[in-house]
Amino acid sequence: MKKTKIISITNQKGGVGKTTTAVNLAAGLNRKGMKTLLIDLDSQGNASASLGLIIEHDIRTIKDLLLNPENPRDFIAKASAAEIIPSNNSLKDIEDFLIKDRNFDTLKHSIAPLAKDYEYIIIDCPPSINVFTKNALRASNEIIIPIDVGYFSLLGIKQLLEEIEHFKKELNPRLDILGILACRYDRRTSLSAQIYETLRQSFPDKLFKTYIRLNIDIVRAQIAQKSIFSYNNRGTAAQDYNSLTEEIING
Ligand SMILES: Nc1ncnc2c1ncn2[C@@H]1O[C@H](COP(=O)(O)OP(=O)(O)O)[C@@H](O)[C@H]1O
Ligand SMILES: [Mg+2]
Repeated sequence: MKKTKIISITNQKGGVGKTTTAVNLAAGLNRKGMKTLLIDLDSQGNASASLGLIIEHDIRTIKDLLLNPENPRDFIAKASAAEIIPSNNSLKDIEDFLIKDRNFDTLKHSIAPLAKDYEYIIIDCPPSINVFTKNALRASNEIIIPIDVGYFSLLGIKQLLEEIEHFKKELNPRLDILGILACRYDRRTSLSAQIYETLRQSFPDKLFKTYIRLNIDIVRAQIAQKSIFSYNNRGTAAQDYNSLTEEIING
């Protein structure tokens, strides 16, 4: 079997489409027959909730795995769209513990035994470069950076990429940027098209051809606790995430 691709979905801004992308990419890969695990590494637990896992405090989450890394399989929940190691706000309880000992490799070690079971592991990161994101970057071989093309500054993106280069050097020199993903693309105005074109010229090798259009189905699917494919497989949002999935599989 090919080496497992471990992909972090990261951007320190909130609301750009990280969780939406993590959930629907994991679902998209699974429905193409690629065995995929989703890891929710955000204490907001949005990925877990959008797959229908409302996590009570006594249920096992990524926090418990990071504290007891021996048997990672015990922490995997089966949602219909994807297998997931869920999260909730108890994750915050171990932030100080991880920071104190500069434990940046805890996630990497705890999921290492799972690699042989999956072709892809997708990690949904929190909206900051905190100790959890650092763990994700250490554990991953690739990252996807979703960008909200409705709210955009090229300077902001250049700064973000510089920061990622910095963390790459410091934390994981082998980390590759798999791609920048234009999210929340609005076809009703020309602004998103202009921004997409600017991104394409600035980062020709890094920008995904697929962009994710603004579509209310995405919000509705989250409320219905379904992937976009089981919510409305014929809609534009499902088409966009299907096209992203194919772009990633076909490299
Ligand atoms: N393409 C889209 N069209 C419409 N709404 C979207 C789209 N992508 C994301 N959203 C909505 O925007 C909000 C933020 O998205 P989310 O994926 O949670 O971002 P992040 O994880 O980066 O904070 C969510 O309410 C989500 O439903
Ligand atoms: Mg999120």
